[in-house]
Amino acid sequence: MKRAIEISAPYKYLTKPNPMVGALIVKDGEILAEGAHEKFGGPHAEVNCFNAFKDKFDFDHVMFCTLEPCNHHGKTPPCTEKIIASGIKKIVIGSLDPNPIVAGKGIKRLRDAGLDVSVGILAPEVRELNKFFFFKHENKRPYVTIKIASSADWMSHNRNGSTTWITSAASRSDVQKVRAEHDVILTGGNTVRDDQPRMDARVEFPTLQPRKILLTSQEEWDSNLIFFKDKNVTINKERNLKEVIKDLSHKEINSVLVEAGPKLVNSFLHEGLCDQLIVYQSPDSLGEGGVPWFEDNRIIDKCGLSLKSSYTIDRDKKTIFEK
Ligand SMILES: NC(=O)c1ccc[n+]([C@@H]2O[C@H](COP(=O)([O-])OP(=O)(O)OC[C@H]3O[C@@H](n4cnc5c(N)ncnc54)[C@H](OP(=O)(O)O)[C@@H]3O)[C@@H](O)[C@H]2O)c1
Repeated sequence: MKRAIEISAPYKYLTKPNPMVGALIVKDGEILAEGAHEKFGGPHAEVNCFNAFKDKFDFDHVMFCTLEPCNHHGKTPPCTEKIIASGIKKIVIGSLDPNPIVAGKGIKRLRDAGLDVSVGILAPEVRELNKFFFFKHENKRPYVTIKIASSADWMSHNRNGSTTWITSAASRSDVQKVRAEHDVILTGGNTVRDDQPRMDARVEFPTLQPRKILLTSQEEWDSNLIFFKDKNVTINKERNLKEVIKDLSHKEINSVLVEAGPKLVNSFLHEGLCDQLIVYQSPDSLGEGGVPWFEDNRIIDKCGLSLKSSYTIDRDKKTIFEK
């Protein structure tokens, strides 16, 4: 199962919002075929694994699959039918699929067809790898990450509008990877007006770009702004953030990265809509001329967030708080 998890992981940025899944065919302790789910909408891991297996099945072959095989017609036909038709008799599954259209139904179908099914091998590892996918289905809403760049004295930007990079190039490059991990980047009107950001994931590996959502009451936007260049932007006029997130819950979106200024960030925190807060903090202060990040100094605690990790990136500190 460890190997099946390992071969699924490289496709993290191409399968989202689908989970990463790996499958193996094993006989007498030897791996005879491997397959992973490699891209969103593409063949599932089980199918790729069968395609890599050129032999006939007997009673000693076992299929290992990190996640419960699907039993419904989605973008591809149900994997359970392919498994049953293959003639393999035993399957070991890492974790149940939390998606209600699969949950338990795949395993039931396989057992009903007479297969020997074991479940729950390295399930916590499968879950950790697919954290956003499990969260979305178990909580019926996407996981919300807020990312901020802060000065040493917890300021966001200069009050007088002058632009300055708060954090180092290394931190900003790390942010690109955080963007690539998420399905959506959400921001507010002032950030787009003041900073004219691109807000895409500029990484050195293939990735599906996150969709962008701009929360704003402004009716007309200049489509020549670089923010709109990739035509990947939804403008949402809803101000009630619970409604914004509720609306996203019905879509194929497992995770949202909020990248905005103090106004929108504080609104999310006050609503308790933050599962993870990532702070990139510079050793330099902005002082009197700065705009403070938080209206309430105890907001991180009040939101139920606690320290998960803290380490240095170049001259900055990256700290992660999580629920
Ligand atoms: N240091 C950092 O990490 C970082 C990151 C991003 C931005 N910034 C800085 O932050 C500054 C802008 O920050 P800001 O606090 O003024 O604005 P902001 O948080 O970026 O945006 C606030 C705007 O979002 C829209 N909005 C929609 N629903 C909202 C809600 N429920 N609560 C709050 N806003 C909502 C409104 O847009 P409309 O007015 O269009 O209706 C509102 O004016 C920029 O100068 C930028 O440089 C810093």
